[in-house]
Amino acid sequence: MEQKLNTLQTEAHTQLSTVENNAQLEDFRIRFLGRKGLCSTVMKELGSVSDKERPRLGQMANRVKNEIEALYDEKRQALLSGLNGSSIQEDTIDLSLPGRKPEKGRLHPVTQIMNEVCSIFENLGFAVAEGPDVEHDHYNFEALNIPAHHPARDMHDTFYISDSILLRTHTSPMQARIMEARQPPLRVIAPGKVYRCDSDITHTPMFHQVEGFLVDKNISFADLKGVLTVFTEKMFDQKLELRFRPSFFPFTEPSAEVDIACVICEGKGCRVCKRTGWLEILGSGMIDPEVFKKVGYDPEIYSGFAFGLGIERIAMLKYGIDDIRLYYENDLRFLSQF
Ligand code: FA5
Repeated sequence: MEQKLNTLQTEAHTQLSTVENNAQLEDFRIRFLGRKGLCSTVMKELGSVSDKERPRLGQMANRVKNEIEALYDEKRQALLSGLNGSSIQEDTIDLSLPGRKPEKGRLHPVTQIMNEVCSIFENLGFAVAEGPDVEHDHYNFEALNIPAHHPARDMHDTFYISDSILLRTHTSPMQARIMEARQPPLRVIAPGKVYRCDSDITHTPMFHQVEGFLVDKNISFADLKGVLTVFTEKMFDQKLELRFRPSFFPFTEPSAEVDIACVICEGKGCRVCKRTGWLEILGSGMIDPEVFKKVGYDPEIYSGFAFGLGIERIAMLKYGIDDIRLYYENDLRFLSQF
């Protein structure tokens, strides 16, 4: 048995030194290390040696087998790295295979729409400002005329972090932050992420808004209508019907929600517009004098308008997407179309 193991070791060394390519290496593996190979055969013979000798010979057999395996791995690596003349890589290269194209990244469709929206307003003279996603209750609600326990807080299903810190539910806190820090005239947009505990085909728990506001002397609702009409024409490259629906926001008076004719069903009624033919894209209004007072502006001198646009809704209309959640499922088959 001992003799057999020594011979096996020497033979393995000799044969491996002649191996020059993949095919020869595979022959070696089958002959020595395969299921019915020489190592397995010797191992089986251990059953017939005496109980006294078996531990010593068993150890020896294991050592020889491990050594042959190590030699095989070493040779395989050498062939792979081309250190040994003709390599496995050389043997397996198929020159007729098409090349591997690098995967090209692209901007997420929501980011593309966000950039487009911002650039339309920038061209209308609006400056861009960004604020925090994690916001104080003060800016998200109090400064916008929504005190604690005000029923309007129910309009937003808020994610609270502590009693006074939350994930902002809209971009309107930026009105208060900017007005507190600067004096009119102001013409600002504030893009960013907002969060609400909300999910269905037109709502996601995280979505994007662009807040816009303009404060100066003699600003009227007609200015708001004008800016939003120009914006939708540029965004959708066509004159689209806009519907200003009376609404309520504690920080604007009067307030209006703006719908555009559903481009998915062309106003005929579908599941996205809930059979109404209209899809709400933004909330807006004239900034409430109470908000001006909180930041120290004189409402007798200044007036202004504000609006908050839902970016995913615009992206749905622009691309004819009938379920907002598709934007966040990370399915490359969907995302790579844009
Ligand atoms: C607001 O958030 C107000 N801050 C807008 C505003 C700003 C009013 C300035 C007056 C002055 P509202 O909750 O309606 O309003 O949301 C605005 C837009 O965000 C909606 O028209 C809609 O397009 C979009 N939106 C609202 N909730 C979701 C949601 N869960 N998922 C996707 N889009 C949403």
